[in-house]
Amino acid sequence: MTYEFVTSYETQVEEFSGKLFRSCLATMELANIELGIRLGLYAPLAGAGGLTSAELSSRAGINERYASEWLEQQAVAGVVVVDDQDKPAALRRFALPDAHALVLLDDDSDACMKPAAAVAPWVAKAIAIMESEFKEGSGAPFGLFDLHDLQAAFTRPVFANHLCQSWLPAVPDIQAKLDAGDRVRIAEVGCGEGLAAIEIARRYAHAQIDGYDLDYASVKAARAAATIAGVSGRVRFDVRDASDSELRGNYDLVMAIEMLHDVRDPVGVLRSMKALAKDDGAVLIVDERTAEKFSVPASEMERLFYSFSTLHCLAVSMYENGAGTGTLIRPDTVRRYANEAGFANVEILDVEHPQFRLYRLS
Ligand SMILES: C[S@@+](CC[C@H](N)C(=O)[O-])C[C@H]1O[C@@H](n2cnc3c(N)ncnc32)[C@H](O)[C@@H]1O
Repeated sequence: MTYEFVTSYETQVEEFSGKLFRSCLATMELANIELGIRLGLYAPLAGAGGLTSAELSSRAGINERYASEWLEQQAVAGVVVVDDQDKPAALRRFALPDAHALVLLDDDSDACMKPAAAVAPWVAKAIAIMESEFKEGSGAPFGLFDLHDLQAAFTRPVFANHLCQSWLPAVPDIQAKLDAGDRVRIAEVGCGEGLAAIEIARRYAHAQIDGYDLDYASVKAARAAATIAGVSGRVRFDVRDASDSELRGNYDLVMAIEMLHDVRDPVGVLRSMKALAKDDGAVLIVDERTAEKFSVPASEMERLFYSFSTLHCLAVSMYENGAGTGTLIRPDTVRRYANEAGFANVEILDVEHPQFRLYRLS
């Protein structure tokens, strides 16, 4: 195989080494953001009109020398702004721009990127698991990665801003029933911490949602979240394998959000979803908006999908002789699984989202 490079060897070395340097810098800056989030350093800075390191130190309860160094680090990283860099260090005031506060502090905002910072410590755990898993190839259960809170933090703003606004309306028969105030029964398989189910229940007082997930820690968190949201009377969560062939139901809508690529037995899960839905019920799959095929160069989103696949999703989908789908679930794969599960039609819904693609199966 020959590769065609238009640049010289020296330029390639320089470009590639520069690329890795920038990745290292990005990782270190992300880790410092995570540190700031864990210590609660952004909230006092937001809307405060500029704090000195002594003020941040006393408001956040941290050592002043660290406050000073971290604020300067955040300023050079472009997270906060400094009023006058030529002032003596103790007199400089640092502010968090409102736009950055939205990204770092509003968990429900579509712009929220707080979970991205939590990826920095999480990858250490994932690398430790995957180092031996790459050799063994036996797969690893979802729970081993301790990802459920991070997963929920990533999907929370998506559900808050898209689920009831554009995803359900793309299933018009279900949306009509919800709008009419009919009692609509919904099942969600692989519900994780249950935030999608809770979001629907909060919007629609007549919706009843049952969430199923294999991961006990996720189900426990989901139950607690439903109680806090005041919807536990209409939302139930159970530990259950969604590929269990005994699953039967009479649901108006059966949905699976960002889970099909993770499951050991995707065809079994789709068969269960078919069995859970009423005859005229809807089956909705939401999964990654991958490219149609492997291609280089790839979009940043596709690159992120691959990075999660090799560090997590592929291993989860390989567990117990699983199908080994991985994060890069492509439309052709969804069609193949759906056909094997007995669905004749796979319709890609006309819904824009940078990460997700919606499939209606019938
Ligand atoms: C990537 S998470 C998505 C969680 C949630 N739907 C969300 O969007 O935040 C995938 C979920 O699928 C669950 N899962 C994997 N295989 C499953 C199975 N066979 N039955 C039920 N849940 C399963 C995992 O435990 C995990 O909670």
